[in-house]
Amino acid sequence: MKRVLTGIQPSGILHIGNYFGAIKSSVELQNVADEAFLFIADFHSLTVNPKPEDLRERVKRVALDYLACGLDPEKSNFFRQSDIPEVCELTWILNCVTGTGLLERAHSYKDKIAKGFSPNNGLFSYPVLMASDILIYKSTLVPVGKDQKQHLEMTRDIAIKFNQMYKEIFVLPEGYISENVAVIPGTDGQKMSKSYNNTIEIFGDEKMIRKKFMSIQTDSKGLEEPKDPDHCNIFALYKLFATPAQQEEMAARYRAGNYGYGHAKQALFEAYMDFFAPMRKRRAELEKDPGYIESVLKKGAEKARALAQQTMVEVREAVGIR
Ligand code: ADP
Ligand code: TRP
Repeated sequence: MKRVLTGIQPSGILHIGNYFGAIKSSVELQNVADEAFLFIADFHSLTVNPKPEDLRERVKRVALDYLACGLDPEKSNFFRQSDIPEVCELTWILNCVTGTGLLERAHSYKDKIAKGFSPNNGLFSYPVLMASDILIYKSTLVPVGKDQKQHLEMTRDIAIKFNQMYKEIFVLPEGYISENVAVIPGTDGQKMSKSYNNTIEIFGDEKMIRKKFMSIQTDSKGLEEPKDPDHCNIFALYKLFATPAQQEEMAARYRAGNYGYGHAKQALFEAYMDFFAPMRKRRAELEKDPGYIESVLKKGAEKARALAQQTMVEVREAVGIR
């Protein structure tokens, strides 16, 4: 049986890069998995000490955004990590089988410290909490970005160690690493990222978003000059939203000349609006009904928690607690 699970960090406002690089595929998984689990990793967020009101707000927003982007609660179990307290209990038990040497090798910890975050113990044992998230549901497949690959390897190491030391309880999960996801460029042509201030958001004020499209950097070719679609940020983004025929049409206009970057930006903006309009509409509807979102997360947590509790009965027995 394919039990797919992934966690999402409740960070920042979602942009087009996040959509095509991560959200789209995690939403599509609900159609191929026998069981899909998707949770908001709020315990993980605490490792960098966010303000409580910011964390609460971000969790709400990420739930709203994912549901608006097509996450179907009938197909995916969508929940908050912190609604499953058994995850913390298992983290402690796994902490006691995890060598500190393994954790000292974690790139993400070193990166965070280099960025100036306080080296707290939560940040250090972040991979153990992640292992617990994965193992407690006996997940078989875990889709993650490249940056999480090492955490998955650690999860497998921890599971092997536990299984050898106590009892074969944990399933060794396979990672599904999206190595070949295309990098979506931002308005300046670099990778779109909230750290580079070059993002175009999925949701938010239409006027502001149009402005962002109009600020996409191009070369300085004049209106009449022929242009090269293959070396243009506008065209690269247009390809995400347009059909092959529409792409051909725009490419031909570029090459023919008398087609300015302003025209291309407008066409791109319209294509973006058409693409995201249903999601934007859905988000506006969902926003009016916070009770619905809460009920989705509660239902997802019930299903997840029942599984977690089953695993913990086995784990406690195996380690000699109760
Ligand atoms: P950011 O770089 O804006 O901080 P995150 O690191 O929070 O984005 O990324 C969340 C997810 O979105 C990751 O899985 C990442 O691979 C994906 N992602 C972010 N930016 C891009 C991009 N420009 N192109 C493709 N995928 C992206
Ligand atoms: N660490 C992951 C990230 O930063 C989020 C996460 C937490 C996760 N627990 C997980 C992902 C379990 C997959 C499985 O993106």
